[in-house]
Amino acid sequence: MQSHIPCFLLALLFAVGVTALVIPASNIVAHGVRAAVAPPAVPASNPSTVEPGPVPNYGFIHPSGGHLYDGLGNLWDFATFNSPHLLTCEPFEVDDTMRTLAAGFARPVTRTYVLQVTSINIDASDAHIVSWDNTTMDWVYNEAMFQQMDYVLATAAKYGVKVVHPIINQDYGSQDSNYAGNWADLIRMRYGFATYEDTYAVNWFADPVMLDSFKLIITYLLNRVNTVNGVRYGDDPTFLAHETGNEMNYLGYLPAPGNWTVAVAAHIKSLAPNTMVLDGSLARNNYTDESFALEALQSPLVDLFSYHYYRDNPPAYDYRRINADSAYVQSFGKTYVVGEHGFYANYSEYEDFYQRQKESNTAGAMVWSIRPHSAEGGFITHGEGDGIFSYHAPGWSPQQTADFDPLELGIIHITRRASYTMLDEPTPAQFPIPNAPEVWVANNGTSGTGLSWRGGAWAQHYEVWSVQLGHLYWVKIATYVLDDVDAGDAYFTIDASAPEQTITPTYPTLPTNAPNIAWSDPKLPQTTGHPGWLPFKREEAPAARDAPQPDLNWKSAFYMMRGVSVDGIAGPFSNVVIAY
Ligand SMILES: *[C@@H]1O[C@H](CO)[C@@H](O)[C@H](O)[C@H]1NC(C)=O
Ligand SMILES: *[C@@H]1O[C@H](CO)[C@@H](O)[C@H](O)[C@H]1NC(C)=O
Ligand SMILES: *[C@@H]1O[C@H](CO)[C@@H](O)[C@H](O)[C@H]1NC(C)=O
Ligand SMILES: *[C@@H]1O[C@H](CO)[C@@H](O)[C@H](O)[C@H]1NC(C)=O
Ligand SMILES: *[C@@H]1O[C@H](CO)[C@@H](O)[C@H](O)[C@H]1NC(C)=O
Repeated sequence: MQSHIPCFLLALLFAVGVTALVIPASNIVAHGVRAAVAPPAVPASNPSTVEPGPVPNYGFIHPSGGHLYDGLGNLWDFATFNSPHLLTCEPFEVDDTMRTLAAGFARPVTRTYVLQVTSINIDASDAHIVSWDNTTMDWVYNEAMFQQMDYVLATAAKYGVKVVHPIINQDYGSQDSNYAGNWADLIRMRYGFATYEDTYAVNWFADPVMLDSFKLIITYLLNRVNTVNGVRYGDDPTFLAHETGNEMNYLGYLPAPGNWTVAVAAHIKSLAPNTMVLDGSLARNNYTDESFALEALQSPLVDLFSYHYYRDNPPAYDYRRINADSAYVQSFGKTYVVGEHGFYANYSEYEDFYQRQKESNTAGAMVWSIRPHSAEGGFITHGEGDGIFSYHAPGWSPQQTADFDPLELGIIHITRRASYTMLDEPTPAQFPIPNAPEVWVANNGTSGTGLSWRGGAWAQHYEVWSVQLGHLYWVKIATYVLDDVDAGDAYFTIDASAPEQTITPTYPTLPTNAPNIAWSDPKLPQTTGHPGWLPFKREEAPAARDAPQPDLNWKSAFYMMRGVSVDGIAGPFSNVVIAY
């Protein structure tokens, strides 16, 4: 269901974009047909947007008395979202994620997904950890994938966003749910096993060879020097915590053995002494005191403990455990966060969760999950099964696209408010003002020439402005244009034969009720967990969008757009494009 405009076409379309007031009139040639004049001056617009001023150096986040603080002594308890796309998406999508988090939540913290390992669904070219080399006795890493991670960390630092990184994924007991590669794949490669079943012979949590081999990965990760900003990962305060893994589970219903977590934590601390370690266990049993490993709770090397709550199905996922779980972890002098949660039945349950987070002194919680604007226009969308989808800011209700969650708007708004409540701060009266969108001319076959655009963070809708060639003033031709659609589908039809005519697009409205079915976990028979996420399929572009716009010998006009906030405040204008 993902779709996009192929790169070559994007390049062609961007080629007809012009920057207002910069390019002399004689340089603008519309498809070699006729020379155009320059567009008139762009009207002034609001300069304050989601783009940050200089972000203070908050330093490392550290725990104290069950809460989190930055290096300046500010409370850093948080309520935000997981961003599982971050390590595998386009740079624009990283930028949009960081703008969304930094502008929208009191303490912008997010959680990436794991390092990918060559495996049934992950090609070596998409893996961070490619293979094991018996001559060097070390792993082979994919530099291009780590450079993508460099960009994520450098961009997070620029926007003041803190990142939790679960290092490796759990084996969920079946290749069917092996979406990113996991520790079973590390066993397979390290021992040269032919099949997944062969890996059953090795106990990941007890085998000294695998522990040493995992330490090699941690050494590589924490000694890596970021190619974008020069900061060594182990010295980078952008990491809120290094998490020992995602949903680490022993035998289906136990946390990772405490001695394993402590051994891994000791190695992390030897390379990143100032960064917190988060026990990445997910036990999935009904009992608080059996869900956290005693040896880890008692170790000074492990700072943070976490659980994942998904409504109450099965009972081991019930979010109402948070009070007991948090109190238990804090009784050991440790800090409690909720690494993932969500899929609740209705808004009341989200409000109830955040009230419990606050009253239980739980230092942080991240909903699963938020996704950014797509580099191809529209948004990255993702289904979780049972009618639940990833969320997008600022949220839409009613939504116009089936891949947008019916509860999205409320979940974004409730979580934004909760992020301030955690700090006893008032929620800002106004929502963030979007940054400038980036517009290009497209042709989708059915509707002819139109505009497509990369959205501005927190834009609720967009205006379209145009001016016919030779005219002196820009005209607002559309006041309410939406982009809550799948990647590659943002489209606004223009009529270049009547370019200054008002256009009022209409949009479908889908039901705003969540389906009243409990989300069920496809991996429950094996162990349990959430279904993870699939890599985005970018190669399936609708053919109709591939045709370059024909020269219809119509009038030419300039077009531009700007995003409008939830409160109706417009952000800065986009680039100017010419269409004819
Ligand atoms: C690497 O060497 C070990 C013995 O040290 C052997 O068991 C394994 O099959 C070799 N792995 C590969 C991929 O050749
Ligand atoms: C943890 O303890 C178990 C049981 O004693 C042992 O088999 C395992 O090797 C230990 N693991 C580590 C990492 O020390
Ligand atoms: C948790 O309790 C439910 C019944 O309340 C039971 O069906 C389930 O098996 C229990 N889970 C575990 C891991 O004990
Ligand atoms: C929310 O969902 C829960 C669980 O289905 C239900 O008990 C509760 O009544 C619902 N609350 C509202 C306000 O709909
Ligand atoms: C072209 O855009 C129009 C208007 O948004 C839409 O109705 C139509 O389905 C699109 N066609 C294709 C092939 O994408």
